Amino acid sequence: MLQAHLDLDPASFVGPVNRRLFGSFVEHLGRCVYDGIYEPGHPTANRDGFRQDVVDLVRELGVSTVRYPGGNFVSGYRWEDGVGPRESRPSRLDLAWHSTESNEIGLDEFARWLDLVGSELMYAVNLGTRGVQEALDVLEYANIRSGTALSNQRIANGSPEPHGIRIWCLGNEMDGPWQLGHSTAIEYAQLAAKTARAMRQVDATLELVVCGSSGAGMPTFGEWERIVLEKTYDEVDYISCHAYYEPVNGDVASFLASAVDMDRFIDSVVATADHVKALRRSEKTMNVSFDEWNVWYQSRYNDVEKITDAEAWPQAPSLLEDSYTVMDAVVFGGLLISLLRHADRVAAASLAQLVNVIAPIMTEPGGPAWRQTTFYPFAITSRLAKGDALRVRLDSPTTPTDAFGDVQMVDAVATHDEASGATSVFLVNRSLSETVTVQIDVDRLGVGSLDSVESLFDDDVHAANTLSHPDRVIPQTNTTARLHDGRVSISLPPVSWTALAMH
Ligand code: AHR
Repeated sequence: MLQAHLDLDPASFVGPVNRRLFGSFVEHLGRCVYDGIYEPGHPTANRDGFRQDVVDLVRELGVSTVRYPGGNFVSGYRWEDGVGPRESRPSRLDLAWHSTESNEIGLDEFARWLDLVGSELMYAVNLGTRGVQEALDVLEYANIRSGTALSNQRIANGSPEPHGIRIWCLGNEMDGPWQLGHSTAIEYAQLAAKTARAMRQVDATLELVVCGSSGAGMPTFGEWERIVLEKTYDEVDYISCHAYYEPVNGDVASFLASAVDMDRFIDSVVATADHVKALRRSEKTMNVSFDEWNVWYQSRYNDVEKITDAEAWPQAPSLLEDSYTVMDAVVFGGLLISLLRHADRVAAASLAQLVNVIAPIMTEPGGPAWRQTTFYPFAITSRLAKGDALRVRLDSPTTPTDAFGDVQMVDAVATHDEASGATSVFLVNRSLSETVTVQIDVDRLGVGSLDSVESLFDDDVHAANTLSHPDRVIPQTNTTARLHDGRVSISLPPVSWTALAMH
């Protein structure tokens, strides 16, 4: 039996766990909005056409913020198409996803949906085909109480209170050749800086996110961050990171260690931001908004390109509807561990996406909604990670990977809430074949009782939840856990994710 050892020390403090780490993302893409959160004919739909069963699951998931309305979609979006009387809203071509956008749902409806789920809106402006003026317009419409043309228009449209959006994304993935309005780092940085300055003239307290690279694998990665931050450093608060993971050429050992890549990605962006801070002799520290992350089987499907005839682009086609396995959920749980480990610099994160599209929640039109395997690590981590993130001292056997060399078989992070005394530990076992017994020293945290120990694993690592078997994979109580003399002992099955709650 392999052994690992974990030492928890309240002095190994990383940073406070920002609730915004548990954000998600709703894009006008496929069946995320239409036939996802919104289905007027559904038996559980409310007066606005929002599915109550989906609202209930989103609340259970514990989502703090929701980024909206894109994504690639936002780079061709005219926000004003989505407000006002529904019968006069235009249908438009959505070039990003080869779809027809009906604009039945827009800012006001989405803000009402967020009230139902209890989450904060993180709004992305279009810097692909549009610019400063349109960003100012949507800001005025959303946030000014009354007495101006656009705020009065919002009131007339049935939203008397301002939406009060605090955090804004300045465009999306502008380094990507697929992006409408794709630009060089300099071009984007100039536009982002001008937009940020203008928005801050309206409200100096807004929190602004500038686009980093759309992935660490982009040829411009690193240089893009440096150039963009050199031009925007004083105007913005966060730089974005996006990362999606899948097994490359069937290499599941490296896939299981995807958090190693996420760690390196965050460390590189933080190093670049701190380099620019030094160059500018700035007092300010730039944080990261990891506003798209997930497992996504991009190489498996090219379903968007199959939709060719622009005269017949469908409304809300089924796109990017990945079905997630036990192994995917273990990788996913590992990515959450990486985000918590960087709680000092990652101040916000958005799981991409929320419903039907690479999502933890799936829906059947007219039928039920269900939880994918990835739902559980997110919901449990969001519920248990409180107080401060702690860096753990970890001594683990290693396992070989092609992508990262030898990596620790067990990965872990902990959180401790001084006020309530609650301590949580999140662990993954990345081994494909070995059970690892972990000894966790919790003495210095004053832990006296184990409250819950939930593990996600299965003899079939490819098992998934489906419409016909929605509860095929659910977390199980890990009955191997024991607390004795300030030390927890627990066995982690191969390919497993575990959360312990103690006080
Ligand atoms: O989340 C799906 C897409 O991935 C988003 O629209 C885009 O920003 C990213 O490339």
